[in-house]
Amino acid sequence: MSWNQLLTVALFISQFQNIPVQLKTLVTDIYVVAGQENIKAVWKEPNLHVRPYKELAVITMAKMPKETLEFWKWDDSGHHAQPHPDSNVPPHLRVDYLTHSSVARLLTGPGLKPLTDRFTKNLMLRLSKSEYLNQEWSELPDLFAFMQQQLFPAAVEAMCGELIFSVNPKFVGDFWAFNKGLPYLAKGYPRWMVPSAYRARDTVLNGLKKWHLAIASKLKCPPIAMDEWSPDFGVELVRFRHDAWSKMPLMNEDAAATEDLGMIWAANGNSIPSSFWMIAEVVRDADLLRQVRAAVAKYVRVSEHEGLDFDYERLCNDPLLQSVYAETLRLHVASFIFRGSDRKDFDLNGWRIPRDAPILVSGHDAQMDPDVWTPKDKPHRRPIHQFWPERFLLGPTAQAKGTAPDFSFKGLGNSWLPYGGGNRMCPGRHFAKQEMVSSLAMILTLFDIEMVNPKGKIPENDLVGYGFGALWPKQPMPVRLLRRKA
Ligand code: HEM
Repeated sequence: MSWNQLLTVALFISQFQNIPVQLKTLVTDIYVVAGQENIKAVWKEPNLHVRPYKELAVITMAKMPKETLEFWKWDDSGHHAQPHPDSNVPPHLRVDYLTHSSVARLLTGPGLKPLTDRFTKNLMLRLSKSEYLNQEWSELPDLFAFMQQQLFPAAVEAMCGELIFSVNPKFVGDFWAFNKGLPYLAKGYPRWMVPSAYRARDTVLNGLKKWHLAIASKLKCPPIAMDEWSPDFGVELVRFRHDAWSKMPLMNEDAAATEDLGMIWAANGNSIPSSFWMIAEVVRDADLLRQVRAAVAKYVRVSEHEGLDFDYERLCNDPLLQSVYAETLRLHVASFIFRGSDRKDFDLNGWRIPRDAPILVSGHDAQMDPDVWTPKDKPHRRPIHQFWPERFLLGPTAQAKGTAPDFSFKGLGNSWLPYGGGNRMCPGRHFAKQEMVSSLAMILTLFDIEMVNPKGKIPENDLVGYGFGALWPKQPMPVRLLRRKA
């Protein structure tokens, strides 16, 4: 039986028997957890660590040096501000806490607004100058490739500054080539089987080292404010991480390149394919496109000096747009979420999971659970494989009472897992939502857009990336674009 088949069986048993299932592999035993109650128990345990990610993926995916991985494992102080009482790790070597908390500060704290402001400004500028913004229809061979080319530089510049692109003029293409080969690297294919995936990884890591060399002296500056931005290294987070690593002997230049690749991948590898899917799902359905345009139009602001702009806060809180966003992630993101318990065995609703054994939750399987998404007592709910833009709007009963349809995750919390869960849930979720909703709003406002393929046919999910977050489209999606009349 292949790994995929084994996992499917384990998930099936776990879901229906409501128990964790031990899956024996050549490398280690993995404990597969499914079902709302069991997943909730995993999220509720605050001390589970995320080292299985590093152990199972990062070493192959992003070439983390072996000794650095050992250093991560040695840090047993936990990811909370207060180190674990039994730990002797000195504060400056708390690599997990320092890395995790600095990212959280940027993405869930005061750094978020300046970051999203810079991203939306960058993207609007790029789209306004697009060669496809014409008075005549022009054909774009692949909407996904277009989104990769537009969104990636807008987001990376907002986070890491401009210099990364000056020292690596091909960085956009290099990154996406790496991302394409990533599932093969993560599954441990040897170099001779997928040489292009390895080459792409080496190229992007070398590019990051070149950038690190170019900013080394600039990173020695004192901390900058959360709303400040350096064209050389971007936001304070980048300076902070490099400063912290410079005090950790095992975080050498290879490890720093790996960690920055991990961050750039986490920040773009999921949200950009997801932004593509959101537009694709809307454009395929003329009725939905009309409704979404009407919703977006409510938040347009045209400023005399800066041109087209939006009230992004209200835009991202619009019920229909939120529901379309959540349904897009439900169908097109398939994350495997890993945890481990490092000091003692983990008691999962009466079942014992040995300390340090990897625990796996499959997000997509939870997002396709018929008991949750199409229960028998809610016959109006559409089939789970169908994109239903109103899935997260409160149902007909609430509407009959005269209340406007509202967005809600009620009863779905532990079954909608694109961002993982518990206290290690993705810290970039707020930024990702802004990216997805604002790029949709900008593209639909600037362009008239038509599908070239027969009506309603969008690409399929490419399952080669199953488990690694947002799936890529299996086929290109050609579209026609035209500048929209004001
Ligand atoms: C649709 C877009 C995104 C998806 C589906 C996604 C998904 C995930 C998932 C599943 C995890 C693991 C969570 C867990 O273990 O419970 C994660 C972690 C992470 N994500 Fe995201 N993510 C997205 C966007 C972003 C963005 C935009 C950023 C940064 C700007 C980001 C930064 C991170 C970081 C730094 C971590 C590791 C956090 C830690 O070590 O505690 N993500 N993401």
